[in-house]
Amino acid sequence: MATLAQETQRIASPLISIREVRKSYQLEEIQVDALRGVDLEIESGEFVALVGASGSGKSTLMNTLGCLDRPTSGSYRLAGHEIVTMNRDQRAKIRNQQIGFVFQNFNLLNRTSALENVELPLLYQQGMTRSQRRERASNLLDRVGLGDRKSHHPGQLSGGQQQRVAVARALVNEPSILLGDEPTGNLDSKTSRDVIQLFGELNERDAITIILVTHDPEVARAAKRQVVLRDGMIVCDTTNFREAFEALRINAEPVDQEDQ
Ligand SMILES: Nc1ncnc2c1ncn2[C@@H]1O[C@H](COP(=O)(O)OP(=O)(O)OP(=O)(O)O)[C@@H](O)[C@H]1O
Ligand SMILES: [Mg+2]
Repeated sequence: MATLAQETQRIASPLISIREVRKSYQLEEIQVDALRGVDLEIESGEFVALVGASGSGKSTLMNTLGCLDRPTSGSYRLAGHEIVTMNRDQRAKIRNQQIGFVFQNFNLLNRTSALENVELPLLYQQGMTRSQRRERASNLLDRVGLGDRKSHHPGQLSGGQQQRVAVARALVNEPSILLGDEPTGNLDSKTSRDVIQLFGELNERDAITIILVTHDPEVARAAKRQVVLRDGMIVCDTTNFREAFEALRINAEPVDQEDQ
């Protein structure tokens, strides 16, 4: 049993606290250091964009945040619980309670209606009746603006609508955090803007903590905070988009500017 002091500290701690996190992959003789000492704190209610060049470690960090993967070393506390020392089942449990995921390719079941896709994660929740599941899923589809598309299959929906279904599905277990790895990567710019707007609303109105990996400056700009990764390290952590953009530009152009 946790003591009162431990419990008080847990409640007072930030939603996400990452300390000195390292992740290395061993491929035969070659070791790839995907994360090389990352420190990051995210409070409840933040909207954060993770940006950086290809291979900089964004997905590795996202998979760590999402409790899908364990770091090689360091500490990750989620809602006050240490994840690094948890086993697979314990991690799955806290993931289901705290986190909803949205993917670049939507990951919806094709032969199933929007409503059934959203309901699906609830099948693993005990104690909910079929009509309660229906109602929860239906309300979420209304919430993401798809009230009139509930019986459509993914193939009968536009890309933006499919991603809205995926957002509704990610929210169905009432997570505190919504994670997305390139959630607008497969969308055209107009549709992408609509989905970004939805993320903004969920953050503002529903106080959902949102963390997105993105290559799209428009998405990064919509976030309230930008975290720039380079070679497995955070090189810029700012609420000023221009600063992040500058850090990215330096990253993309390793040539000394003054020589030109
Ligand atoms: N399973 C793995 N085994 C070995 N190396 C890996 C593995 N996953 C990632 N890496 C390496 O770790 C580094 C970081 O990869 P990561 O996928 O996190 O990059 P990223 O920033 O998400 O890139 P992108 O923008 O291209 O998606 C890369 O050098 C990559 O090759
Ligand atoms: Mg990636």
